[in-house]
Amino acid sequence: MPQAHLTLDPAFSIAPVNRRLFGSFVEHMGRCVYTGIYEPGHPATDADGFRTDVLELAREMGVTTVRYPGGNFVSGYRWEDGVGPDRPTRLDLAWRQIETNAFGLNEFMAWTKAAGVEPMMAVNLGTRGLQEACDLLEYANHPGGTHWSDLRVKHGVAEPHDIRLWCLGNEMDGPWQIGHKTAAEYGRLANETAKAMRLVDPRIELVLCGSSNSGMPTFGAWEATVLEHAYDAVDYLSLHAYYEENGDLPGFLCSAVDMDRFISDVVSTADHVAAKLRKRKKINLSFDEWNVWNFSRFQGIEHEPFRHAPELIEDTFTAADAVVVGDFLITLLRHADRVSIACQAQLANIIAPIRTEPGGRAWRQTIFHPFALTARHARGTVLRVEPTGPMLETSRYGEAPALSAVATTDGDSLTLLAVNRSPDQALDLTARIPGTGGPLTGQVIAAGDDPHRTEAAPRPLAVELHGDTLHTRLPAASWAIITRS
Ligand code: AHR
Repeated sequence: MPQAHLTLDPAFSIAPVNRRLFGSFVEHMGRCVYTGIYEPGHPATDADGFRTDVLELAREMGVTTVRYPGGNFVSGYRWEDGVGPDRPTRLDLAWRQIETNAFGLNEFMAWTKAAGVEPMMAVNLGTRGLQEACDLLEYANHPGGTHWSDLRVKHGVAEPHDIRLWCLGNEMDGPWQIGHKTAAEYGRLANETAKAMRLVDPRIELVLCGSSNSGMPTFGAWEATVLEHAYDAVDYLSLHAYYEENGDLPGFLCSAVDMDRFISDVVSTADHVAAKLRKRKKINLSFDEWNVWNFSRFQGIEHEPFRHAPELIEDTFTAADAVVVGDFLITLLRHADRVSIACQAQLANIIAPIRTEPGGRAWRQTIFHPFALTARHARGTVLRVEPTGPMLETSRYGEAPALSAVATTDGDSLTLLAVNRSPDQALDLTARIPGTGGPLTGQVIAAGDDPHRTEAAPRPLAVELHGDTLHTRLPAASWAIITRS
């Protein structure tokens, strides 16, 4: 039986657990908003038309921060259409949708309060620019006495929304993006927009668009150029990444290796620009779209008619997907010193942990469980655990460690998160843990026996403690959480 070992020592701290790592994403895409989080007339809605079954699941999942309203959608969006009594119906060119604008900024903000989450707004830098971004910010955050803030008050929202986190557009490097730009064009626009937005509200935090994924031909050069333009004006640089199995389970189970390299490459690029510009300030990362997405099964939408709330990319997830999602969360935590924000894309129906039937039930997908357990138990400080163990050979990523792990500690409580990436071999894990405390509890999602089953509720995992050493056996292709409270 292959053996692996790690050490939990409070001296090896990486960074505090930033609660913003447990973010999600609500885009006006498919059925994420309409019949996802919002469905007036559904038997389980509140007075605002919000689905209370979805709200309860979002709270159970432990989602902390929600990015809105896109995604590709934002690059053709007029935010004014979604406020006040007159809501024009428009064509959404990004996803070939009929957008009724029944749900807009004020509805989203009411929903964030009901869900207990922090909003993260994106401005349109595709078809629009600096002025509209400032108008939106004035409407949202200015107390009153001006055109846009008084309009908000007239729309029934007396207090400013005080939205702190703002994205300067979405995936502006992608040729598919409405209003796609070169790095130099976007860098200048983002810098000027950021400076002006800070004049409206100096307390905001701004996210600059990085690459849409690390496979983009402009990856690296894009980050360097946009940062050279906007370094002083922004706080974070974005990363997006989606992964799929596509007939290669061993490679897919190692997807987090790529996420890990992607993060390290973007950190290096940001720090290179800092050195070049002689800056002390560090740019941190916002991994504001990540997930499993079976995109090779996505047929595209170019030949589809325009429809309201169409069924788009409603992937059904498997046990293997849950293991990989658990590994992504481990990876994000391991980079907690530089990754400050992360949003799983998306919350409801669109490649989502929560699925709904229009007029019917809402349910948890397999990937819900590792997210919910990590968000609940990963608290306090992230610890580097220095795992040792066998290596796996993959055609996608070359050599990859079989064990992926991270830990957190908060006072006497400990949480160890671990993934065995081997598709067919269990792994005997020993871990030195500090101090004494209550009993250890283990839970596991094991995909090895049937990786494509679509149910993956966690089961108990046997954990023994001998002196200061914990022993457990991680089944093939499994994600595990061990806690001591
Ligand atoms: O999350 C789905 C889409 O993926 C988003 O609209 C876009 O930003 C990304 O390419």
